[in-house]
Amino acid sequence: MDYINSLWKAIDEQDLYPNSRTIKDVPYPELLIGGKKFLCLCSNNYFGLSIHPEVKKAAMEGIERYGIGTSDSRLIAGNLELLEDLEKSIADFKREPAAVVFITGFMANVGSIPGIMDSFDVYDFPSVKNENNLIITDMLSHRSVFTGCRLSKSPTKTYLHKDMNHLEKILKRNREKRKLIITDGVFSMDGDFAPLPEILELSQIYNAMVMVDDAHAIGIIGENGRGTAEHFGVEGKIDIQMGTLSKAVGALGGYLTSSPELIKVLKGRASSFVYSSSLPPEQACGIMAALEIIQATPELRNSLWKNVSHLKKGLEDMGFDTMNSETQIIPILIGNEQKCIKASRLLFEKEILVPAIVWPVVQRGKARIRVLAMATHTESQIDRALEAFHEVGKEVGVL
Ligand SMILES: Cc1ncc(COP(=O)(O)O)c(C=O)c1O
Repeated sequence: MDYINSLWKAIDEQDLYPNSRTIKDVPYPELLIGGKKFLCLCSNNYFGLSIHPEVKKAAMEGIERYGIGTSDSRLIAGNLELLEDLEKSIADFKREPAAVVFITGFMANVGSIPGIMDSFDVYDFPSVKNENNLIITDMLSHRSVFTGCRLSKSPTKTYLHKDMNHLEKILKRNREKRKLIITDGVFSMDGDFAPLPEILELSQIYNAMVMVDDAHAIGIIGENGRGTAEHFGVEGKIDIQMGTLSKAVGALGGYLTSSPELIKVLKGRASSFVYSSSLPPEQACGIMAALEIIQATPELRNSLWKNVSHLKKGLEDMGFDTMNSETQIIPILIGNEQKCIKASRLLFEKEILVPAIVWPVVQRGKARIRVLAMATHTESQIDRALEAFHEVGKEVGVL
């Protein structure tokens, strides 16, 4: 008990514990909190599809037909044809040969990175690191990527954010190893793109596989929302693409696309696929409806980008540092952690929900407010937010 008390005390004393708000209802792009309507500027539900009538209808029909879960892993009694249909829909949308779905995006990374890298060699001593292999990842890759790397028996090296010289140095020193380069396509806390064409070029020279985490790109990035590969014109050239169904798609789940052979490896070796129950059927039904809407309604992307531009221009004109954001993710750099927490609290007092993003999610001294627009925000809602950001920016001394 003493251990637990001292653990909590140590965390509490840092004053950086992430307090979450209790949300009563979700009339996106607003949220009902404590009896008041808050403007939500932090949701990954970019298109509001979680509450789209057709998506809800499809999910309800799924419950009617299959119930609310499979109670089993795909390898036992959970392999519904519906889930295979969903995998085909994802692969078709992404224009990739095959796909596999996981219960979340986090689980997709955590299970598939060791699932791929640890399947090359059969080991009698599971705790020994496999020095034949090397995983190389950007220092700002998502936590789920790092967790997957840590669980793998392959050693991991990290390169400085988007630093291609650093990546090349590591590749050069490890020519003889089996290598996997992993990067986010869109970096989730900074909103910048990975330099995919350069990464692919290096991967060719040094014979490395490439995996891209496109969690924040699916549905949004690229003319048709197929992600960072579409944006950079490198479709068909990335060995493994991962994505989530919990952001623009508005549901729950993660996926990987790749060759049919690699997908087979994952379905037999990725621990979060083999040893965990399947995605619930109603999610699969809702996701398929959402994917159809995303493909048939480019207006959703147009509205999102219109709101993002309006918000970003407004913030930059006021003098906020939006870091090097190139996408829909707009970080406002505050720097000091306590100042950032104060800014978030002051915005909350103005009925705007945007949490402070502080260490350990981002580096110390780089605390930020991460602003996310939705396609469904109105112009006057964005204007109200900009006015509030201006007042709070002055109050915490960053303007
Ligand atoms: C880059 C990235 N990868 C993976 C994930 C995990 O996705 P999920 O929420 O589906 O577990 C996230 C979500 O925050 C993310 O931003």
